[in-house]
Amino acid sequence: SVTRHYNFNVQMANVTRLCGTKSIVTVNGEYPGPTLLAREGDRVVVRVTNRVAHNVTLHWHGVRQLRSGWADGPAYVTQCPIQTGRSYVYDFTVTGQRGTLWWHAHISWLRATVYGAIIILPKHGVPYPFVAPHKEVPVVFGEWWKADTEAVVRQALRTGGAPNISDAFTIDGLPGPLYNCSAKDTFKLKVEPGKTYMLRLINAALNDELFFSVANHRLTVVEVDAVYVKPFTVKTLIISPGQTTNVLLTAKPFHPKANFYMSAAPYSTIRPGTFDNSTVAGILEYQKPGSPSVPSFDKDLPLFKPALPRFNDTDFVTNFTSKLRSLATPQYPAAVPRSVDKRFFFTVGLGTLPCPANTTCQGPTNKTQFAAAMNNVSLVLPSTALLQSHFTGVSRGVYGSNFPVTPLLKFNYTGAPPNNTNVAKGTKLLVLPFNASVELVMQDTSILGFESHPLHLHGFNFFVVGQGFGNYDAVNDPAKFNLVDPVERNTVGVPAGGWVAIRFLADNPGVWFMHCHLEVHTTWGLRMAWLVLDGSLPNQKLLPPPADLPKC
Ligand code: C2O
Repeated sequence: SVTRHYNFNVQMANVTRLCGTKSIVTVNGEYPGPTLLAREGDRVVVRVTNRVAHNVTLHWHGVRQLRSGWADGPAYVTQCPIQTGRSYVYDFTVTGQRGTLWWHAHISWLRATVYGAIIILPKHGVPYPFVAPHKEVPVVFGEWWKADTEAVVRQALRTGGAPNISDAFTIDGLPGPLYNCSAKDTFKLKVEPGKTYMLRLINAALNDELFFSVANHRLTVVEVDAVYVKPFTVKTLIISPGQTTNVLLTAKPFHPKANFYMSAAPYSTIRPGTFDNSTVAGILEYQKPGSPSVPSFDKDLPLFKPALPRFNDTDFVTNFTSKLRSLATPQYPAAVPRSVDKRFFFTVGLGTLPCPANTTCQGPTNKTQFAAAMNNVSLVLPSTALLQSHFTGVSRGVYGSNFPVTPLLKFNYTGAPPNNTNVAKGTKLLVLPFNASVELVMQDTSILGFESHPLHLHGFNFFVVGQGFGNYDAVNDPAKFNLVDPVERNTVGVPAGGWVAIRFLADNPGVWFMHCHLEVHTTWGLRMAWLVLDGSLPNQKLLPPPADLPKC
């Protein structure tokens, strides 16, 4: 293993999309940002320098950060932000992971433009557990606003209403030919007949889960969230914000004399109009036989489009996610905790807060503003960092250690919205002893409507042992849990109108954020944090903070 050094300068750049130019926050002037490449076991050292007028932090989404929570990145959770003109070095080792992950800004809505791929190759000499692809291509989905996204979120917070939806989806920052004046901004994948390609799909969109399909081609899913899965082949897949999916695409054995759209459009159970229901398309084009360097794209060739599911096709989503299984082989075992030390049930969903006096709110009513919570607690981030307060022992006035282990308002889904939709604000951590094995059931409350919530846990992978619809049944549902080959990942959809059960081993001391990866829900408070205590052995303790850790 080696040490890989990167310099990430956070700087403004002018970017033109959808006929308009705006100045956006980028890394090194690139949009999307640079790909970070490492090999399993490598140490990665990224010097981040803030040259913009915003506070900044970066997060290495899905990297386990064993004992190195100081490098995890969520603002006010593991660190104070990097202020204008300052630098901070993120220093971590990639242990026991290989595959596709990604990095993004983790403060306010800066991740709208500040994101990029992380590719972790297997150790030298260790092959993939599937046919080696001819080429590997990152395919990063994003979302573009014509307006400044920081202004969009500020406006939502000021009015208590929903933020404006995006103007386009993008693939590698490109909206594609279905949007006005974007034909030249189209992602193109050039393939040679008969060759197999691995697409490293990353959903970096802010607020939308996406269906993805390539016309007249099939996709074999081989990995999610940097964990191999039992391969299965589909025409269409679903990928939620925060998730990554590696698929193999085998080009047709002959030159097909056609071009093919690769399209993504959102899955949402809420009304169209309240989310961006447009479609981004890239083009798969076959290179001319005999001249592989000359692209064959030819306007005269027919262009095939894939059929995507309806925007609210929950059956499709359930069917797809139920196919995801760990390899569970001797070489890639599924280390599912067999017994459980700590069992938790969290409600997850939207709610309201009263409108402040002398304000008109644009929430669900003009007397309320939108809010969101887990177990009815809407996390308020402190003005210092939780991990620092924990490490220095000065938690008083910063956080409580009393996150409710059952919902504050008893939850029972009846189909009718409850009388009380209010959430409680608070800064409370849920404390776990080192190496506790945890089972957590998360239930969508559906209080303001059925909605799927892609829940992301920092610092761990977890196993998705069960899911279902309606109320979770603590007596009968556990008997159906899959403890043999459940998928292992870092972001899972809590089904709209249903529940999901996960298990993980709390073997990583530190403070670990958990939140809905729909950015609007995180903003409204659908977030909490775990405090995992040190173990007794020296190698079971959180490392000391680096000397350049930013101060608030
Ligand atoms: Cu990808 Cu807390 O984030």
